[in-house]
Amino acid sequence: MQRVLFVCLGNICRSPTAEGIFREKLAQSHLAEQVECDSCGTAAYHIGKAPDARSQQAAKQQGYDLSSLRARQVQGSDFEQFDIICAMDRANYDDLMAQASPDHHHKIHLFLSFAPDLEETEVPDPYYGGEQGFKQVIKLCEAAADGLLKRLA
Ligand code: 4NP
Repeated sequence: MQRVLFVCLGNICRSPTAEGIFREKLAQSHLAEQVECDSCGTAAYHIGKAPDARSQQAAKQQGYDLSSLRARQVQGSDFEQFDIICAMDRANYDDLMAQASPDHHHKIHLFLSFAPDLEETEVPDPYYGGEQGFKQVIKLCEAAADGLLKRLA
């Protein structure tokens, strides 16, 4: 079993979107029995909450259901249990690298590194912006989820 973890700041916008999209694509692939995934946040603000209503709405419009996901904070055991840890932005990446022991650093990647053809290298935080930002998160996460699945295949 390969285990993938998606990480943002709050675990209510970007990383649950990444998880929902990856889950859907995984279910439709031949890897469904061999890969598991989860998401979490580096911050504790939103522990136990469902994804932001705006993220759920944008995801639903593209056929992804995020409603059963609940936020949690990253914990030390995540660096042991997961094989690939995908940070949504550089700040998330730096926080994870600071928390992980050096022997786990190789597991931590910027999520968009799996979509090298994109101009963007980070998934921008949509929390304080408008609807367009949430749509952009979907687009970027779809591209990186495709690239990650190809890498795992
Ligand atoms: P996320 O977005 O990291 O994509 O879940 C955010 C959610 C909440 C906050 C910031 C970003 N916040 O400051 O509460």
